[in-house]
Amino acid sequence: MLKKERRKMRVRAQIVEHLKIGRAYYLLGLHAPEIARTAEAGQFINIRCAETLDPLLRRPFSFYSIDRDAGIIKILYEVKGRGTEILSKYKVGDFLDIMGPLGRGIDELDNGGIQVILLGGGVGGAPMAALAEKLHECGMRAIRVLLGASTMDRLIPFDVFKSLGIEVSAATEDGSLGYKGFVTDLLKKQLEKFERKDCLVYACGPKEMLKAAAEICRNKGVKCIVLMDALMACGVGACQGCALKVRDEDGVETYVRVCTEGPNFDAREVVWE
Ligand SMILES: Cc1cc2nc3c(=O)[nH]c(=O)nc-3n(C[C@H](O)[C@H](O)[C@H](O)COP(=O)(O)OP(=O)(O)OC[C@H]3O[C@@H](n4cnc5c(N)ncnc54)[C@H](O)[C@@H]3O)c2cc1C
Ligand code: FES
Repeated sequence: MLKKERRKMRVRAQIVEHLKIGRAYYLLGLHAPEIARTAEAGQFINIRCAETLDPLLRRPFSFYSIDRDAGIIKILYEVKGRGTEILSKYKVGDFLDIMGPLGRGIDELDNGGIQVILLGGGVGGAPMAALAEKLHECGMRAIRVLLGASTMDRLIPFDVFKSLGIEVSAATEDGSLGYKGFVTDLLKKQLEKFERKDCLVYACGPKEMLKAAAEICRNKGVKCIVLMDALMACGVGACQGCALKVRDEDGVETYVRVCTEGPNFDAREVVWE
């Protein structure tokens, strides 16, 4: 069998779109045909946010959208600290030093999963947009998206999903939109409707949300793939800075690198502590 190409590139990518979305997020579009060509949903890019040495380390962001024909990749990000604050000041036409595609993409779609649930908490919903596009491209139609956030202005936009004809349900902790409570409550309700063998869940968001989703899925016997976050330094497997504790097939605890063996893992492998 041919091995899938996993070449990573370092390129200067021109910004083709940079919009503030609601109160919390920014949408950044980059012309990077070399990266778009092999990028997969679930992978990420590492952006050098400043021309200076502060901040020194690149910052990782998942693909939100991949347009291979136009050579454009998009990310959706939240301003968290210094790196993303600097990033938010760039204008259309400026260039950014980026590396990618990094990590393991969700390229082996589990066709055993007839009903796919995409679960996103806050900006963790971003990679679910690229995944929804990919699943749709592969002809899957039984896709359901569950998005959660503390308040409605922290929900990611629904438009990518809606344009694909995918139903979106929202949960907000303050009840400002959709179900009042956690998005994992919606997951529990959804799973009550399906047979175990008919369902597959992909989840990305805060660790506590992923832990809860993993437990709900385990109790229902449903497979759950989690996209893990980690503080990263190199992003290419060299520094061990993103180590995640997992349990191997024999039940032995070991460490893997989120940036290279991940970011997506079977939730049953992760040691949730
Ligand atoms: C594989 C991967 C994909 C990601 N995809 C996205 C995405 O699509 N959109 C998005 O908005 N963010 C994403 N992130 C998180 C993003 O990388 C961080 O928010 C960003 O690096 C923060 O940089 P900063 O310089 O602004 O903040 P810093 O000044 O570095 O930190 C500000 C605060 O955020 C915390 N922080 C820093 N990095 C992370 C992190 N990785 N996770 C959680 N908290 C962090 C710090 O501990 C600190 O409290 C992703 C992270 C990973 C590992
Ligand atoms: S960030 Fe360096 S090994 Fe993962």
